[in-house]
Amino acid sequence: MSASNEEPSQRNESDASTHHEEVSFGFERVSPREKTRRVGDVFQAVAERYDVMNDLMSLGTHRLFKRMVLQMSGAREGHRVLDLAGGTGDMSALFAPVVGTSGRVVLTDLNQPMMRVGRNRLQDQGHAQVKFCQAPAEALPFADKTFDCACISFGIRNFTDKDRALEELLRVLKPGAALIVLEFSSATDPVLQTAYRAFQTLWPPVGKLLVGDSQPYQYLVESIRMHPNQRALKQMFDDAGFVNTSFHNLVGGIAAIHRGERAAEDAHSANNDAPNAER
Ligand SMILES: C[S@@+](CC[C@H](N)C(=O)[O-])C[C@H]1O[C@@H](n2cnc3c(N)ncnc32)[C@H](O)[C@@H]1O
Repeated sequence: MSASNEEPSQRNESDASTHHEEVSFGFERVSPREKTRRVGDVFQAVAERYDVMNDLMSLGTHRLFKRMVLQMSGAREGHRVLDLAGGTGDMSALFAPVVGTSGRVVLTDLNQPMMRVGRNRLQDQGHAQVKFCQAPAEALPFADKTFDCACISFGIRNFTDKDRALEELLRVLKPGAALIVLEFSSATDPVLQTAYRAFQTLWPPVGKLLVGDSQPYQYLVESIRMHPNQRALKQMFDDAGFVNTSFHNLVGGIAAIHRGERAAEDAHSANNDAPNAER
């Protein structure tokens, strides 16, 4: 992975409207196939130390943000929840006791090593209602109107085609169900922005110490900078067809939670199962 020192201007549109266009991998422009492969390499490299680094880089605040996602989701006992780009399972672990044994959480991710860490952890915690499915966000292997809610926690900026993923999420949500997206965003105060960027320069060297490789963390810094800002991401929700869309800034916009719903008009939806989830 080669990292440029030049930061291109932020693109506020989606990464790719078709699979023929180049997309951003950090500050680089690469083919969609190349991005998917390299994002896979990044998370394969960090999987075993992902949780430790997460606590260090966020100073523990990601735990609080994730609890806010849970609260905004409206999840309750018996619900089916999609934890997309679920990785090592933080969100699934929060949703599992809420949906209970009559509900189901489907942790879906592209990356086997990340899911392996999550599976071990969730099994140790006894969360048998969490199922695992290896699949890309852009082609979800679930029937229409399967889920009562869906979340993506710190995943969407890595997606190869965010627009396509949002369309897929809309398809698999039941009418009236909500999508909650937690992601790094743009600090609204320039002083905070400068201070946060200075803090981020520590991530690659700390990553080198802990994981033995700074490049995945260089990608992390660049991917945050290239990610659409709050308003642009809300517009992407709107364009995909979500209704009642909104966002809430966290820590002055360093991160944000976006929420949108599938319109409720066709409310008599079928209770479809998740056919391809591993059981
Ligand atoms: C930063 S981790 C977030 C993990 C977890 N949700 C959390 O909040 O800690 C991003 C995850 O997104 C996954 N991912 C990246 N691109 C993906 C895609 N196109 N489809 C599904 N998962 C993807 C990665 O494999 C990785 O596990």
